[in-house]
Order: sequence, then C-alpha cells, then structure tokens
Amino acid sequence: MSRKRYVIALHTVVLLLISLFVPKPSLLAQAIPSLKESFKKDFGIGTALNTAQIEEKDPQMTAFIVGQFNWVTPENVMKSAVIHPAWGTYRFDMADKLVEFGEKYGLKINGHTLIWHSQLPAFIQGIHNPDSIRTFFTDHIKTVAGRYKGKVFSWDVVNEALNEDGTLRKTVFLQYLGEDYIKEAFRLAQAASPNTELYYNDYNNEQPAKRAGCLALLKKVQAAGVQIDGVGIQGHWHLGKVPLKDIEESIVQYAALGLKVMITELDIEVLPRNVQGADVGQRMVSNAASNPYPDGLPDSVQQQLAADYEALFKLLLKHRDKISRVTFWGVNDGQSWLNNWPIRDRTNYPLLFDRNNQPKPALYKVVGLNK
Ligand code: G3I
Repeated sequence: MSRKRYVIALHTVVLLLISLFVPKPSLLAQAIPSLKESFKKDFGIGTALNTAQIEEKDPQMTAFIVGQFNWVTPENVMKSAVIHPAWGTYRFDMADKLVEFGEKYGLKINGHTLIWHSQLPAFIQGIHNPDSIRTFFTDHIKTVAGRYKGKVFSWDVVNEALNEDGTLRKTVFLQYLGEDYIKEAFRLAQAASPNTELYYNDYNNEQPAKRAGCLALLKKVQAAGVQIDGVGIQGHWHLGKVPLKDIEESIVQYAALGLKVMITELDIEVLPRNVQGADVGQRMVSNAASNPYPDGLPDSVQQQLAADYEALFKLLLKHRDKISRVTFWGVNDGQSWLNNWPIRDRTNYPLLFDRNNQPKPALYKVVGLNK
C-alpha cells in the first residue's frame, strides 16, 4: 500500500472509531422522551414561552419546544402592561407572533391573561373614577379577546382574584366595579370570542380556604348563566411539600362543578424561601444562604425533585378524566421566573429539563409512569 493510501485508510478508521464512541447531537436529541407523546392519551402538555422563544431566536429551542409540548401559554406578552401600554393604544406585535408560532407548529394557545391586578399598564395608577376603569376593562377585553377570536384555544379570563383566606382580593377592579366584575369579565370574553374556552386561574387555590373561595367564585359565574369552562390551579409548589391531598380534593371538587381542571404554571421550587405562593409583588432579602446551588444541584435534591414530580404525575394520571392540560411554567431551568423571584439572580432548578434542555431524573420518572 502506498503511503498516501495508508494515511487515508488510517484516517477513515480513526473517523469511524470516533463516530462509534462519540454520540451525535441529533441522536442525543432523539433519545429524549417526549412529554407530549408520553401523555397524549391523558392530557395536553404545555409550556410558557418567553419573547426569544416566540421569535424563534434559536432554531434548536424551537425544535425542542415543538417536540415536547402541544400547548403554549405566553409567559408575558399578552399581559395588559405589554399589550395595552397606553390609554386606547394596543401593541399586538409579539402576541401576533405567538399566534403565528402556534399556527405554524400546530400548538394550542392559552391566552394569558385578560384581567389581572398585576402587570397593569402604568396609566391605570392615575385613574380614580369608576367610569374610566369600566371603560378600560370593557375595551381591553373586547379588543384583545376579539382580535384573537378563533386564534387562541382558550383564555385565562381572570387571574388571581382571591386572597389566601378565600375572600376577593382588593384589586382596582373590585374597588371600582364591585364583585360582579368577575362574571362581567367572562360575559365580555364570551361575547368577544365565542367558541373559545374560558378559564379562571389562580395559585394556592388547592389550599382549603382559598379553594372554598374559588368554588364560590366559579359557582357565581355559572349561576349567572355565563360561560366558564375550566379552572387553572397554577401549581407553584415547593420541594418535599407538594400538597398532594389538597390537590386531589381540589381536582375532585372543581370537576364536580362540571369544569375542566388544569395545572397551568407548574414548577417545584428547590431554593430556600420564606415567601409563599406566587405574588410577584412580594420580595425577599438575599443573604449568604439564599443561593446554595450556583454550580449544580446536589444529587439528594435532584432525587427529591424527581420523587416529587413522580408522585404528582401519579396523582394527575389517576384523575386524567378530569384534567385537560398540564402546563410547565417555562421550558427549562434557565428560563424559569424562579431564578429572579423572590430574590434576583439565583440559580434555580424547578423544571424537568436543565439549562441545556437535557432531561433531569424527574423527566424520566414522570414519563416512566406511562410505560
Ligand atoms: O421586559 C422588561 C425589560 O424590558 C426590563 O428591562 C426588565 C427589568 O426588570 O423587566 C422586563 O420585564 C419583566 C418581565 O417579566 C419580562 O421578563 C418584569 O420585570 C418581570 O416582573 C416579569 O416577570 C413575570 C411575572 O409574571 C410578572 O408579570 C415573569 O416573567 C412571569 O413568569 C410571571 O408569571 C406569573 C403569571 O403570569 C401569573 N402567575 C404567577 C406567575 C409567576 O409570577
């Protein structure tokens, strides 16, 4: 054999050996089980999308989202502060892009959210008369729900209207419009966007006192003959403390009203926190112990997270006939709002995929339940 041929043959053998021992990225990607496929007979699987994801800045991220999820909720771009920034002025560009994203990839869109006391446009603070608040309220629902008629599958019509004790939260809407604002919001949404599912959404509404208030709220809307199709339990829970019994009782009691039940913003907090719930207005002061895992999650915590997710999904599967969707609040740990709340710049690990979209032990536990 000539020296040249020998070199080529050696080169070929080396490349062959490398290809045998180094897994190709595409093969690695294929090996990741798909959540939406695993649960396709049970319930929809959703995620919250941020601006970069909606704009498809990273094609690999897009492919990952489309492979894993069949529902999407905008994490921020349909909130009133973003979509209705000034009196009578709407900015639909990002929300329109979300709709295009959903249409392009065949994903159901849950609009989030029409009426929420938080992330309101700044101009609301300067308004102190009921007529103007009513005009804002009516115009907002008609315009936003009307624009996406036939384009979103569903809306979180009212978000987080309850206090922890089950009473109505003192929002600008309650203050100026009275407690009927909730059924009025559903009535306006129904008129603006017929054939769209309409939901009430809250956190901690699996807890007994808040659940009682939530049941009363739902019944009032139903008693008024106004359309309401479902209730979202957000599902911002804590490591080792997922309230399975409360969740189960809530699923059963909400479903008994004839409503679809959804887990709408699922994540499991692994970092220390003395603030409960998901009230974005609350904050916590940072100290030396508040960001314990900047370089990675210890195995014991990783295993606890996996066990928590496994127990939760076991329960959700038991009630698959009542649950229409489970949505995670973010695609991977790097995207989670919990990296910045209630303390900024922490390293949190609340989801099923790590910062590189690689599956965590919790993902394998969850999909393993359905094998
Ligand atoms: O877009 C601005 C950016 O221009 C600015 O430079 C930056 C400075 O702080 O803020 C950016 O806006 C942030 C926005 O997220 C987009 O990243 C807001 O400050 C921040 O408050 C906002 O947080 C969102 C929060 O709701 C409040 O709207 C989180 O991403 C979002 O995950 C969270 O989601 C809520 C649900 O809608 C309702 N249930 C609770 C859940 C968690 O709080």
